[in-house]
Amino acid sequence: MSDKTRLFNDKDFIAKFAERRDAPDSVNRCVDEPQILALLGDLRGLRVLEIGCGLGDLSIVLSKDAEDFLGIDISSDMVTEAIRRHPELSNCLISKKLNDVEKHPTYDIIVSSLAAHFVEDIESFFNGVYERLVEGGVFVFSQRHPVRTSNPEVSNGINSNDWLVKRYFEESKRVFTWLDCETHNYHRTLSTIFSSLRSSKFEILDLCEPTPIVADNSSDRLKECWHVPPIVTFKCRRLTKL
Ligand SMILES: C[S@@+](CC[C@H](N)C(=O)[O-])C[C@H]1O[C@@H](n2cnc3c(N)ncnc32)[C@H](O)[C@@H]1O
Repeated sequence: MSDKTRLFNDKDFIAKFAERRDAPDSVNRCVDEPQILALLGDLRGLRVLEIGCGLGDLSIVLSKDAEDFLGIDISSDMVTEAIRRHPELSNCLISKKLNDVEKHPTYDIIVSSLAAHFVEDIESFFNGVYERLVEGGVFVFSQRHPVRTSNPEVSNGINSNDWLVKRYFEESKRVFTWLDCETHNYHRTLSTIFSSLRSSKFEILDLCEPTPIVADNSSDRLKECWHVPPIVTFKCRRLTKL
């Protein structure tokens, strides 16, 4: 089992992750999801694949409008917990790697929220997305902002004064403590993500650095998001390979 699978299959970690995700000042709820949904627009009549569905909280929104919806996650325990939280998703969430998802039928839209920084080989990930999209299909994904993945020493901090960008141009695995568990991300510069998307034959339609949609003056976590971008979100279109 890979390190990342182990983390998201640790029951204590999943419980802490769920508590953080359910909090009213959760960055997923207040920053990430609103941006993803705004970039996606109307999903009616479309076939949608979500990669890294986690606890299914975005899946429940996507599946309501989409014509057809499949959510995948490499962690079987996350999927089990997602189905416990949202029993109505039991037929459309599954523990699978992207490479094990059939290439046909293809999807109109592929979405991934806050999973790409766990992926080691980003270009092969983008190629896998490409192969499962219809021509002209749209890929919307978010990941931790590279200014945050750069410095593992402060990844668990919530004081914006701590957020020193370090070793930005050194692209490597960064190990740190998150919710009391050792984890890691793959740090890449913004330009590497951009050029990998282009190499995989995606046209970049939008690049966003979302900020909180709620004016919650009491939350240090959200206040900090106005100083240091937490997330970068891309909207891309699949081009035809010549
Ligand atoms: C931080 S969680 C985010 C989950 C969900 N998108 C959300 O917003 O709550 C990251 C999720 O991505 C999953 N994941 C990591 N790498 C993945 C991969 N290569 N393919 C599919 N899922 C992956 C993890 O198991 C975990 O559930």
